[in-house]
Amino acid sequence: MDIRLMKPSDIPHVQQANITNLPENYFCKYYLYHALTWPQLSYVAVDVSRPPKTPYDPPKIVGYVLAKMEEEPADFVPHGHITSLSVMRTHRRLGLAEKLMRQSQRAMAETYQAAYVSLHVRVSNVAALHLYRDTLGFKVDKVEAKYYADGEDAYSMRMDLTDMQLKDEKKKKPSKEEVDDEEDEGEAVGSEGKKPSKKSGGKKRRVKVGRGLGVGDLVERNESSAKAE
Ligand SMILES: CC(C)(COP(=O)(O)OP(=O)(O)OC[C@H]1O[C@@H](n2cnc3c(N)ncnc32)[C@H](O)[C@@H]1OP(=O)(O)O)[C@@H](O)C(=O)NCCC(=O)NCCS
Repeated sequence: MDIRLMKPSDIPHVQQANITNLPENYFCKYYLYHALTWPQLSYVAVDVSRPPKTPYDPPKIVGYVLAKMEEEPADFVPHGHITSLSVMRTHRRLGLAEKLMRQSQRAMAETYQAAYVSLHVRVSNVAALHLYRDTLGFKVDKVEAKYYADGEDAYSMRMDLTDMQLKDEKKKKPSKEEVDDEEDEGEAVGSEGKKPSKKSGGKKRRVKVGRGLGVGDLVERNESSAKAE
């Protein structure tokens, strides 16, 4: 089994899995919106046990998680949201849903600094409730009455992701070991890299690198026409 990011070409197969497993279905463009706006957050589980016979055979998608960042969070806290999750009956209780969820949650925290992830689940959905509450550690935030089109209530659940967020490396003062590690271990070769000599007046020469270069500096010069120094 392969868990990988959802590609736009997977969408018809994901949509098929969604229609098979859940009554909440979406237009193709809503899947595409997810895939193009938050390409790091939605994943598919692909059964690779039987390799495709021809290059035109579609991937066998047996599970997916469709996820996004909340675009206008009411609490002004950046957070992710699980739009849809399902696994085909033939491939349930193998840990696929758990893996799909964990991958997506990690990406929310690392890519978008999401503070938490939220979702809705039917109050009668025992399997999903076990997965969210007991396996993953979600907490019920509130009950939303008649949330679903058929009148069923939803648990609005959320899980904290602050432990997964990438801390700002720049703010962290490097430890002594990290400073020592950065020092060049090799022997000096030639004069480059040596401490400034008395001849050069002990001055350091500033050189431009990478993005610091202006466009003019990036234009290739004809070195042969340059005057010998
Ligand atoms: C809910 C669903 C996604 C779970 O998928 P899955 O791949 O079978 O789940 P996992 O194998 O990762 O199970 C992880 C945990 O979830 C819980 N779980 C999953 N199925 C369960 C079931 N039928 N009964 C009780 N607990 C269940 C268990 O705690 C399980 O851990 P365990 O196997 O160590 O006991 C799947 O049943 C499904 O697609 N259901 C229909 C669609 C749906 O309800 N989606 C959720 C909408 S909110």
